[in-house]
Amino acid sequence: MTQVTYARGSSRIARAGLTTPQPVHPTIEGMDVRVLRPRRVWLMLLVAVVASAVMVAPYALLDVGSSRLDVGGGLRYGLLVTHVFTATVALVLGPFQFVPAIRARGRWHRRIGRTYLLAGVLPAAVTAVPVAILSGRLVTQVGLVVPAVGWLLTAGLAVHAIRRGDVAAHRAWMTRNYALTFLAVTARILVPLVLLTGLATGAIAPADAPAAVTSLIPVGQVLGWMINLALAEVIIRRRRSRGRDQVAVDRLVGPLASTAAASAWWPGGPRCAGW
Ligand code: HEM
Repeated sequence: MTQVTYARGSSRIARAGLTTPQPVHPTIEGMDVRVLRPRRVWLMLLVAVVASAVMVAPYALLDVGSSRLDVGGGLRYGLLVTHVFTATVALVLGPFQFVPAIRARGRWHRRIGRTYLLAGVLPAAVTAVPVAILSGRLVTQVGLVVPAVGWLLTAGLAVHAIRRGDVAAHRAWMTRNYALTFLAVTARILVPLVLLTGLATGAIAPADAPAAVTSLIPVGQVLGWMINLALAEVIIRRRRSRGRDQVAVDRLVGPLASTAAASAWWPGGPRCAGW
């Protein structure tokens, strides 16, 4: 019996009545639509929604007194609130773009993508720059203006890539873009993590904890986007090598599949041999 296998496994991919080999990953018009495992995407969405709710809460009623940052009222508060609301749009919408079922529906993918960029990333990045500069803290000024510019740059490169039909480059730039969006979450996870580690190892004395938090916040902000971008690169590289595997499988299986398809119609062929 002809046994056709995946490059990475031993499962049979040709069965009776099946004349087309199953791809290693779900594809649409030959394009792998799986960017992240679906469970990871839902987890990312859950984290994004919960984190957004926590982050937006002090600003939801537009009460200057509830602001976590001491920005006074007026323009600075207006910029911060615009940043928070629009950044939330990006944080919550982003994970949907990694859901294979949505990626498969081109129109929804484009609608969500446009909203993510025009109502989320663009205004959030533009307002983040003055908010960072007005913070008066050098680490925040440099450490957050850089990702704000990177946010705009990766968005522009992603749009440029898809306009010239380069889907792989579009996905890579959007993955980097969402990694920057997710800095808000990573930064806020890092600060308590570093604090607890410091307390547990004795590097930070309990009495110094409040002061340590203040100095750790800018460090968390900077480390947050650096870690996220490094992880994004790992995901992009893995996806590329998976893509190369898929091409290798297609090359290997293509001729075999046509043979299997043809032989399924032959009397005494594989179909009769118990496929
Ligand atoms: C590249 C992405 C981002 C950049 C560059 C950025 C930049 C900034 C800057 C400069 C500040 C002021 C920080 C300070 O003065 O200490 C800030 C505050 C804030 N940002 Fe972002 N941000 C980004 C993404 C996000 C996202 C996705 C959210 C999601 C909701 C978010 C929510 C907030 C909130 C809530 C504050 C106020 C501080 C607080 O209440 O904890 N930011 N951001």
